[in-house]
Parts: sequence; C-alpha cells; structure tokens
Amino acid sequence: MTSTLLITGAAGFIGSSTAERFLRDNYIVIGLDNFDESYPKWIKELNIKKLSDNSNFTFIEGDLTDQSKISSVLKSYKVNTIMHLGAKTGVRHSIENPLDYIKANVLGTSILLEECRKANVKEIIIASSSSVYGERNKIPFKESDDIHNPISPYATTKSMVESIAQTYSKLYDMKITVLRFFTVYGPKGRPDMAPYIFIHRICQSQPIIQFGDGETSRDYTFISDIVDGIFEAVRRTSKWQYEVINLGNSEPIRLSDFITEIENIVGKEANIIKEDRKEGDVSTTCADISKARRLLDYNPKIPLRKGLEQMFDWYNSLEEKYDA
Ligand SMILES: NC(=O)c1ccc[n+]([C@@H]2O[C@H](COP(=O)([O-])OP(=O)(O)OC[C@H]3O[C@@H](n4cnc5c(N)ncnc54)[C@H](O)[C@@H]3O)[C@@H](O)[C@H]2O)c1
Repeated sequence: MTSTLLITGAAGFIGSSTAERFLRDNYIVIGLDNFDESYPKWIKELNIKKLSDNSNFTFIEGDLTDQSKISSVLKSYKVNTIMHLGAKTGVRHSIENPLDYIKANVLGTSILLEECRKANVKEIIIASSSSVYGERNKIPFKESDDIHNPISPYATTKSMVESIAQTYSKLYDMKITVLRFFTVYGPKGRPDMAPYIFIHRICQSQPIIQFGDGETSRDYTFISDIVDGIFEAVRRTSKWQYEVINLGNSEPIRLSDFITEIENIVGKEANIIKEDRKEGDVSTTCADISKARRLLDYNPKIPLRKGLEQMFDWYNSLEEKYDA
C-alpha cells in the first residue's frame, strides 16, 4: 500500500530536501508550510518548485496554529505518518521575539499532536535540535543528558515540544520519534545560517562577522546525511513507542577552521570582522550518534570539505542570490 506522509515545514531547507527523497521512493507527500518570514518567500517557493512537477506531491499553504486547517488536512488526505519539521527557526532571532517561537513551535506542535490524536494518526517524527543541550563542555552530547538548561527561547520551545510529545505518546499510544539535528548545511541551506552567509559574503568580497574568538565549534551535518536519518526514522517509528535520537556528524569544527575551509573552496580570503559572542550561542555542539547507528543504521558519509563543495556548486547555480 502506498503511504501518505505529511511533511510540515515542507517549503523550508530540510523539509523540501526530505520531500524530494520520499517522492523518489514513491510516497504520496503532502507538504504544509505557512511561508513564515524568517527568510523571503521566494526562496521557499523555489525550494518547492521542483517538487510540484511530481503528481504525488500536494502543497498546502497553512499555519500549524490553525486548528481547523490541520484537522481538515489530516482527514482529507488520509495521512499515515507525519514528519514534523515546521517551526520558527533561528536562535538569535528568538531572543528578540520569544512569543512568536512559543506560538509556532509549542502551540503549533500541540495542535498538530491533538489533531493526530483525533484523526488516529499514530506515527509522528518530530524535529528537535542540539540546542536543547544548552551550554556544556562535556562532549559528545548523549540523548540521556539533562536538557533543562536551555539558553535561548528557541531551545526552550524545542525542549517543551519534546515533553509534550512524550506525554502524547504515553497517554494516547502514539509512536513518536524525536530527532535532534546538529547544524545542518548543504544545497538549499538556510540563508540566515553561517554556511550560506559566509559563502555568499566571501564570494561577493563583503566582510563577514565572526562572533567570538573563533574557538566555538559546531557539529556540521550534511543535508543528505540528515535526510537519510529522517528516511529511516519514518520507516521504523512503528517499532518503538517513544525515542529521542541525535542526528549529527560527531566531528565538531572550530569556527575559525570552518571559515578557512570556505576560503579554500571559494578561493578568496575572507575579510573578517570580530565581534563578541552573541547571547544564546553555545560554545560547542557534538553529537553522540551511537543510538542513531543502532536504531536507524545511521552512518553520516559526507565530510565537511565535500559537503561545502556541494553547497558551493549549488550556490553558483543560483540565478538569483539572496543578499545575506
Ligand atoms: N537547519 C538546522 O541546522 C537545524 C538544526 C536543528 C533543528 N532544526 C529543525 O529542523 C526543522 C527544519 O529546519 P530548517 O533548517 O529546514 O528551517 P526552515 O526555516 O528552512 O524551515 C522551517 C519551515 O517551517 C515553516 N513554518 C514556520 N512556522 C510555521 C507554522 N506556524 N506553520 C507552518 N509552517 C511553519 C517555515 O515557513 C519554514 O519553511 C525545524 O524544526 C528546525 O527547528 C534545524
């Protein structure tokens, strides 16, 4: 039987890349997105343009907090499984607008789960984030680590979403997998994240801002590795009741080394302006991926250099470049 997958946040970076993968595997994919203003609508429209040629893809413009819309989507399309990626993203922006994040992420996810309960949708995979681990020096981060010290509203909403999901799973017998992603980059990468901003600004000979002394590090994970993890999570979620799984690369890269890598790929030296580290930014992230290896046969394959080269090729192919 063909399975119907609802992907929320389908016009976004990870959502559109995930939709592409499931359509390749002959799933019926319903994509939902409200084109929020975290970055321009035309970029998101471009993300889903290619998907729309596939007759197994339906796009619905809608907001997760619109309960009657969510209810009607689940019923009309007979959804079997949900990959919930829709969220307000961006740590720094959440510090200025915490309530927007609470509405979209906490209320939006709660409405989605509630409507799943009513419509008897039993398999849900939810995107969380490495930011739930907060500021810590002990690496790698394990799923069993304490997540009660988030340092940004964004991180708080993700940790709240996890708690709500766990409660729904327990009370209403829903099979739920929470995936904690670690700094995702690659083609279609978000224009508000460092990989795009650095590539763009170095190419355009514009200065880049380095927040902090360059010693902070991130566990950059290439989009196709994340999508592989998502794919297996969607296929296997019925096997367990509730699991939280890290999807990272387990190889943190220092910011200064990350910039050097991009300079080498672009073939130009960056003009670096140094500023203080921003509130909400943690000093390091690093995933323990042994659980993902065990439960999802997850095995990240793309090293940073190769991933950035692919991102740079995609950037060069863009007809219109967003001026980040
Ligand atoms: N990119 C990363 O490095 C990263 C890391 C950790 C976690 N995540 C999580 O992965 C998911 C996807 O992230 P992304 O990088 O693709 O971000 P993105 O911003 O490109 O995609 C999120 C999408 O959700 C949509 N959205 C926001 N609020 C909505 C609402 N109320 N109703 C419907 N749609 C809504 C946005 O319009 C956007 O297209 C998010 O949940 C994010 O928190 C991403």
